[in-house]
Amino acid sequence: MLISDLHKVEGQKANLKGWITNKRESKGLVFLIVRDGSGFIQCVVDEQNVSADSFLAAKTLPQESSLEISGTVNKDEKQMGGFELVADEVKTIGVAESYPITNKAHGPEFLMDNRHLWLRSRRQWAIMKVRNSIIYAIHNFFQREGFVEMDAPIFTGNACEGTTTLFSTEFYEKPAYLTQSGQLYGEAMAMAMGKIYTFGPTFRAELSKTRRHLSEFWMIEPEMAFYDLNMNMDLIEAFLKSVTAEVLQKCQSELEILERDTDTLQKTVETTFPRLTYDDAVKVLKGEKNVNGRNSISVLESDLKEAIELLESKKAELSTKEEALNDSSMKKGQRNFIQNRVDTLKNEIKELEETKIKNIPQWIASAKSFEYGNDFGGSDETVITRLFEVPIMVYNWPHEVKAFYMKRDKANPHLAKGVDVLAPEGYGEIVGGGERETDKDLLIEKINEHKLPMEAFEWYLDLRRYGSVPHAGFGLGLERLVSWICKLKHIRETIPFPRMYGRLLP
Ligand code: 4AD
Ligand code: MG
Repeated sequence: MLISDLHKVEGQKANLKGWITNKRESKGLVFLIVRDGSGFIQCVVDEQNVSADSFLAAKTLPQESSLEISGTVNKDEKQMGGFELVADEVKTIGVAESYPITNKAHGPEFLMDNRHLWLRSRRQWAIMKVRNSIIYAIHNFFQREGFVEMDAPIFTGNACEGTTTLFSTEFYEKPAYLTQSGQLYGEAMAMAMGKIYTFGPTFRAELSKTRRHLSEFWMIEPEMAFYDLNMNMDLIEAFLKSVTAEVLQKCQSELEILERDTDTLQKTVETTFPRLTYDDAVKVLKGEKNVNGRNSISVLESDLKEAIELLESKKAELSTKEEALNDSSMKKGQRNFIQNRVDTLKNEIKELEETKIKNIPQWIASAKSFEYGNDFGGSDETVITRLFEVPIMVYNWPHEVKAFYMKRDKANPHLAKGVDVLAPEGYGEIVGGGERETDKDLLIEKINEHKLPMEAFEWYLDLRRYGSVPHAGFGLGLERLVSWICKLKHIRETIPFPRMYGRLLP
């Protein structure tokens, strides 16, 4: 029986198969925290209740050993999941060797090197469950709306999003690339099927380590015939609301494990997303325009002040705790406890220094000196979205910073009809999209301007030759959405085995 089904057999006997994730002992009792993939449960093994073999197994099996355990299911509101198993029998399946991931504070590189094991921890388990629900909710939305799912090729002969981030490979002795986006193929399919979406892996050689870039990530790219920019924005908003609502409904306990404050997610479902032109977004960034009475620069300044105060209090606690460790008469249990707190504090201090203390002054400086016409960098997005509680849509971009296929605004030829969705709480871009250029001559001009090989785009130009129609679409980065919904510090935890600069193993 699965842990997630135990609520159906309250007061009755049940049999579980799983792994020991944690354990506590007190006189004649062993408390095992068992996980089986569907959930976690505390199992009480009482020396009086079970055979000597069973009790010995419970007492001696190390963390991550696998076992079969049977007993009675009792309701216990205090326990996670609301149930507890009072064991009758414990049978060993596999005895684990000494497990590298313990309750100690581990650094991120160590955890990443052990990603294949780290996935078993409760937090990672919760993230993967949320990811799964997001994927399901995405399909639900598009299938309900009559979109046809299509798979775009992964081997491609041309760039889609600019040539700087291409991974090159070989295709039967000819040069080829791993796809950066399925969009161009999506446009062709939209002319055949009306409304389509792709859901597949995409690849970008991002030569730097950031908390929002992967080299391999999953993108969802809908494309719709007869859609303009406004219809596109309406669809994006309905889509993000629908996915967020479904996750909120299905993943309550996972979000609780992640300690995700769900207010923002609830507001995202209920509130209209603000739509800002690029021009207005620049003014907000530079502190020339307030949002609900709040100014980007002064908010950052008070964030910095808060971070400095927090840093000082952590440093003070650290030195008190380190001093306490000098007491040689301290018992081992207490020493371990304090040492653990010391390690945690050191990690927290390092993180505060590396993130807020170092970054905020840089963000302030770069926000103030931002030049109109540039693309927003990650920190600019952080500064802008810090002022909002729900995702925002920034539209009408200077065409120079957008891809070659973006439709130019006839009334304002320096603008392109693109839209970026920036997630709140400092997360930044999760969606990029827009209306597509339908003017064949302008497209040819753009392909040349971007120094792209015309012969590779002839098929794409055919879409404008044969029954060209206004059309639009967008791309959602799955891992960016998981990161924001779970409120993670880094995108590396959003995908089972992340591929990013410097990381190809495990
Ligand atoms: O804004 P981007 O580059 O747009 C496109 O690729 C278009 N072809 C989409 C379309 O209109 N069909 O990428 C779309 C999204 C970004 O908003 C971001 O969420 C995600 O893909 N993304 C990444 N996610 C993780 N790691 C990276 N290196 C990413 N690069 C883009
Ligand atoms: Mg983009």
